[in-house]
Amino acid sequence: MAKQGDGLRSWVKTKTDQATREVLQERLTGTRVMAVTSGKGGVGKSSLVLNLSMALAERGQRIVILDADLGLANINIMLGNEPVYTLWDVVERRVSLKETLETGPNGVRIIPGGSGITELARLDSVEIAHIIEAFQELEGECDWLLIDTSAGISDNVLAFVLAADEALVVTNPEPTALADAYGLIKAVWEQDGQVALKLVMNRAQTRDQGTRLGTRLTDLAQKALGQSVEFLGLVIEDPVVARAVIKQVPFYGAYPHSEAAYDVADLADRLLHRVPPPRRGGWGAFVKRLVENWPRGMNQDSM
Ligand SMILES: Nc1ncnc2c1ncn2[C@@H]1O[C@H](COP(=O)(O)OP(=O)(O)OP(=O)(O)O)[C@@H](O)[C@H]1O
Ligand SMILES: [Mg+2]
Repeated sequence: MAKQGDGLRSWVKTKTDQATREVLQERLTGTRVMAVTSGKGGVGKSSLVLNLSMALAERGQRIVILDADLGLANINIMLGNEPVYTLWDVVERRVSLKETLETGPNGVRIIPGGSGITELARLDSVEIAHIIEAFQELEGECDWLLIDTSAGISDNVLAFVLAADEALVVTNPEPTALADAYGLIKAVWEQDGQVALKLVMNRAQTRDQGTRLGTRLTDLAQKALGQSVEFLGLVIEDPVVARAVIKQVPFYGAYPHSEAAYDVADLADRLLHRVPPPRRGGWGAFVKRLVENWPRGMNQDSM
């Protein structure tokens, strides 16, 4: 009996050591920057960002969310918080980036973008240098930067997507959402983007339907454009999602045994266990690319 216990303990220790080594190895390669985006609005980006970040945090990952929606601060609204400072206060040098951070569930930290996101487009090179430096303050302190973008293929949204290491394109099974997701993939392809694209089918009616529509879209991108898009998986249509939104709590925490929470956990596992995309220099490099990607003429002078 004692021997069996010893065997189990040593097995657990080996597994724990291996997992710790993997996490430390990943950390050496810098922050993984992932934009979460969609062609059509309202398909579930903010909900996915928040709940997925909780699942990743539960798996030992240090997460920062950049709430980069150009309209309302989606993530803070979902948590029922009013942000004290936003990225705009960093641009204006009132506070450091760390001071804007709000702490959410599972220790996930949130940078409220607010008007700072639109204003990024108007910065001159001195201010841009300042914002890059401000972002570097958090380099090495997080494993993931998840960006909740606005919907659509405006230059502004594309700038975030093209600057990231990888982008999750979120869609639902509606024909309009699928067409807009394809439009977004095509827009990235037209720009010759280096970003690794992944697709998530949210609000699938059944697992079969979600997988069928998801793989049909990724196959189309491959055949028609030669653009590879990995089908990461689906989140089933689940009434707990709307219930949690009304309560202003994430469903992953409030309904951990729901189907939607299991699906999000699966997505987190796939992100962690499938081969990660090549890192493009961590998050300082991401901000640099972001401001360089702003459409010509939006900055007052070029870098
Ligand atoms: N898996 C799901 N099952 C059921 N309802 C869902 C699911 N995912 C999202 N929803 C519903 O869709 C609504 C919109 O989700 P969310 O705000 O995350 O979308 P969004 O893409 O961020 O929207 P926007 O483009 O306006 O930022 C949620 O309030 C929720 O009620
Ligand atoms: Mg949103």
